[in-house]
Amino acid sequence: MKLIIKEDYEGMTDAALEVFLEYFPESTVLGFATGNTPVLLYERLSALCRAGKISFRDKISFNLDEYCGLGPKDRHSYRYYMDSRLFGSIDIQAKNIHFPDGTLPEKDSVAMYSRELGLLGPIDLQILGIGKNGHIAFNEPGSGIDSVTRVTELQSETVERNKAPVQRAITMGMKEILSARTILLMASGKDKSEALLRTVRGTPSPSTPASFLQSHKNTYIFADKDAARNLQDT
Ligand code: GLP
Repeated sequence: MKLIIKEDYEGMTDAALEVFLEYFPESTVLGFATGNTPVLLYERLSALCRAGKISFRDKISFNLDEYCGLGPKDRHSYRYYMDSRLFGSIDIQAKNIHFPDGTLPEKDSVAMYSRELGLLGPIDLQILGIGKNGHIAFNEPGSGIDSVTRVTELQSETVERNKAPVQRAITMGMKEILSARTILLMASGKDKSEALLRTVRGTPSPSTPASFLQSHKNTYIFADKDAARNLQDT
C-alpha cells in the first residue's frame, strides 16, 4: 500500500487525480465509486474532458454498487449520482457503462452484472471510498476476501450515514475488487480515521473489509490529515 497524506480534501483529491491521470492512458476498464468523497475528483475529470484534455470515448466503466429497487431516474440511486456528477459531462459511450441494475429482480441483476464483469474485467483502474465501519463498495463488516457480486443487507449505521433509501444493495465483491490492477482509495474527514487505521495497520480480517487491500499489489491510499490522524507517524 502506498499511503499519501495531504493537508485537506482538495489536496487529497488532486493527489488522487494525478495518479489517476498517470494510469488513465493504459487503462480501458475504469471502476467508479459513489459517496461524497470522490465528488471533487469527478468535477475535475469532467472539466478535463470538456476541455478536450482527456477522453472516455474508448473507456468501459463499472460502478461498484446500487441500491435494490432503485432506477436511474431516482435521485437516490447511485446511477443518478453518476449520471449527474460524471457521465453527463464526459464523452463515455452509454453502451460502455456498467452498473448493477436496481430495477431487475435481484438474482437477475447479480447474474447480469457478474457476467459483464467476467467478460470485460478485471478492472484496470478502480476508485474506492471507505465507509466509517471499514466497508468498501457495500462489502460490510463480515464480508470475506473471496466474496463476489451479491445482494447485501446494509448495517443500520450505513443506512443512517448514507441516508440510504433501502436496506439492501447489489455490490461487487471483495474478490472482484481485489482483482483490479490498480486501486486508488480516497478518505477524508475525522470519522474515517479509525477505519483507515485498521485498514492500513490492522490484521486483515472481514471485520474491516478494506484491510484486505493490504494484500493487493498496487493500492494507493489518499487521505487528508483528518482521516490520517492516527497514521501520521507512518
Ligand atoms: C457508500 C458506498 C461506498 C462509499 C461509502 C463512503 O457506502 N457504497 O462505495 O465508499 O459510501 O461514502 P462517503 O464518501 O460519502 O463517505
